[in-house]
Amino acid sequence: MIASVLPTYSRAPLTFTSGAGSWLTEADGRRFLDLGAGIAVNALGHANPSLVEALTTQAQSLWHVSNLYHIPAQQKLADLLVEHTFADTVFFTNSGTEACELAVKMARKYWYDKGQPERTEIITFTGSFHGRSSAGISAAGSEKMTKGFGPLLPGFTHLEFGDHDALNATATDKIAAIMVEPVQGEGGIRPLPDACLKGLRDLCDQHGILMILDEVQCGMGRTGKLFAHEWAGITPDIMMVAKGIGGGFPLGAVLATENAASGMTAGTHGSTYGGNPLACAVGVRVMEIIATPAFLAEVNRKAGLMRQKLEGLVAAHPDVFEKVRGSGLMLGLKCRATNTDVVKAGYDQGVLTVPAADNVIRLLPPLTITDEEIGLAAVRLDAAAVQMQREHA
Ligand SMILES: Cc1ncc(COP(=O)(O)O)c(C=O)c1O
Repeated sequence: MIASVLPTYSRAPLTFTSGAGSWLTEADGRRFLDLGAGIAVNALGHANPSLVEALTTQAQSLWHVSNLYHIPAQQKLADLLVEHTFADTVFFTNSGTEACELAVKMARKYWYDKGQPERTEIITFTGSFHGRSSAGISAAGSEKMTKGFGPLLPGFTHLEFGDHDALNATATDKIAAIMVEPVQGEGGIRPLPDACLKGLRDLCDQHGILMILDEVQCGMGRTGKLFAHEWAGITPDIMMVAKGIGGGFPLGAVLATENAASGMTAGTHGSTYGGNPLACAVGVRVMEIIATPAFLAEVNRKAGLMRQKLEGLVAAHPDVFEKVRGSGLMLGLKCRATNTDVVKAGYDQGVLTVPAADNVIRLLPPLTITDEEIGLAAVRLDAAAVQMQREHA
């Protein structure tokens, strides 16, 4: 008999009942150090008092009004995002997937309005992940996600990650947009080198192609800048954001330049919940905390410490771990052992990590993780590696 919750996930035998900071408590009382943070969502930790306050204060006055009316928290969050980024305008969604949908629509509408309605093709890359909607899976294109779900949305050209020749041959004046994650998350924490992101920007400029960055996982301070593309000194035309921006409350956004968004006039797009007062009240507080030089400097300092600890783990357990990669507090341990076994051994040692493609385990802790917790994370991951060696000896 099918489970009452549609069984699309194979879940770990863990049920968390509460959380505080970097810690989650299981129903049986065990405490786990959370290096997954709801897959890069709980950027400010669990039950962050400031976010709880922002949410409950808003909850006491107004939960929801439709986008037929002005929503002050939404306006404030949009203003903050415009102030701190390349963007001139913002549309709020509930998730990264919906941000992908709008990014695709916006790019195509742009060319339609420019008198080139045939210019619909969007270049994407292998190993990417843009969500599970028809547009999202069509954009990413992997068989794992698309098999059985056809017909897919047409208009995506999938290029091999890192194949510059294919990119140069394909990126012509007929292409509408290039969509890319500055650091692939689900694909196994694969950062695009700054030089490549710059090269992509140049290529886009050369052919008038719109650059869409998917910063759903790598954005909101995760890499030590507010958004990952800032490391490369470039700006996109359109950017997808979600996960960390809501700190655990469902919230996403599409940020765009005035030019890229020029086709999105009244009536062309909408959402019942997107930009809801509760979500935006939390989002404002998240932005007020993360988008400060002091907070981001701390992320960078702690990222250095974490990386150093992980390098130590690789050196100590070369048969379990192969190497560390990533950016800021978006780190991956490429494994020699099977990554899902390492994640499971971590459960036994009270530490949560997240598997990704390419046999990687992801470490995406709350950005508020303390130095002591980073030290403890290394101790517990070391114990997990020792357990692996014992079990597979
Ligand atoms: C880079 C990227 N884009 C899009 C998505 C989809 O976001 P959501 O699950 O919020 O719909 C994800 C989710 O993991 C992601 O990592």
